[in-house]
Amino acid sequence: MAEFKLPANSVIKPGKHWKADSGVTHIKKFIIYRFDPESGNNPRTDTYEVDMEHCGSMVLDALLKIKNEIDSTLTLRRSCREGICGSCAMNIDGRNTLACTKPIADIEGDITIYPLPHQPVIKDLVSDLSNFYAQYASIEPWMKTAAPVSPDKERLQSKTDRDKLDGLYECILCACCSTSCPSYWWNADRYLGPAALLNAYRWIIDSRDEATGERLDELEDPFKLYRCHTIMNCTEACPKDLNPAKAIANIKQLMIKRKF
Ligand code: SF4
Ligand code: SF4
Ligand code: FES
Repeated sequence: MAEFKLPANSVIKPGKHWKADSGVTHIKKFIIYRFDPESGNNPRTDTYEVDMEHCGSMVLDALLKIKNEIDSTLTLRRSCREGICGSCAMNIDGRNTLACTKPIADIEGDITIYPLPHQPVIKDLVSDLSNFYAQYASIEPWMKTAAPVSPDKERLQSKTDRDKLDGLYECILCACCSTSCPSYWWNADRYLGPAALLNAYRWIIDSRDEATGERLDELEDPFKLYRCHTIMNCTEACPKDLNPAKAIANIKQLMIKRKF
């Protein structure tokens, strides 16, 4: 049987253990992936003991407490701390989610934190999402119309047509879904992944957009769309409770419909 091993320089080593001050009684341990490609060292996991009596309730609060009070070298992205910007997406306790909306109390025992899986790591918890964003750009996420824009009139839409955008426009491009998708792990160079496809569907289904056929033509490809095998990890992972798998299935149905 074939045996798969990580290359020697990718093996994660045990790192530093940052102990809480003596006298601190309510401690939670955070075991965090650390990697600096420029150092030439292997990745490691550092363990931080955090005083929970003086910490906010979300995982992001603990990460910022670690960065501000224990180890300023820890690198992570965050901005809104309200589940809006998508920048604090990471793998917490084995699941992709947003650190700012993940309650610490939801996790029993020690908390492990890694960057989003199967993406190159820039440093520590910061993944390189260049490919993810390029794929989003490739679906041309803007309204396309032949008719010229009127400066003094809105493009009207019925309430029923507007309702079709619910569950789609709320995507914050956090990449939790795409980086939890096995098909995306193996074919991220050619499969667009659930986030880009959900957003593609958002424009395909928009009654005001006039490029529906063109958009479907672009996706008619064995890899871009059809690498989705309905495994549903994406929908499980979405911290905004969206359903990318359903959006992908809807695109596939439209592909079939237009053939008949
Ligand atoms: S449903 Fe499709 S996009 Fe979602 S995880 Fe499965 S294969 Fe990936
Ligand atoms: S569909 Fe959900 S998980 Fe995927 S990028 Fe959008 S908000 Fe994030
Ligand atoms: S910091 Fe913006 S979504 Fe978490």
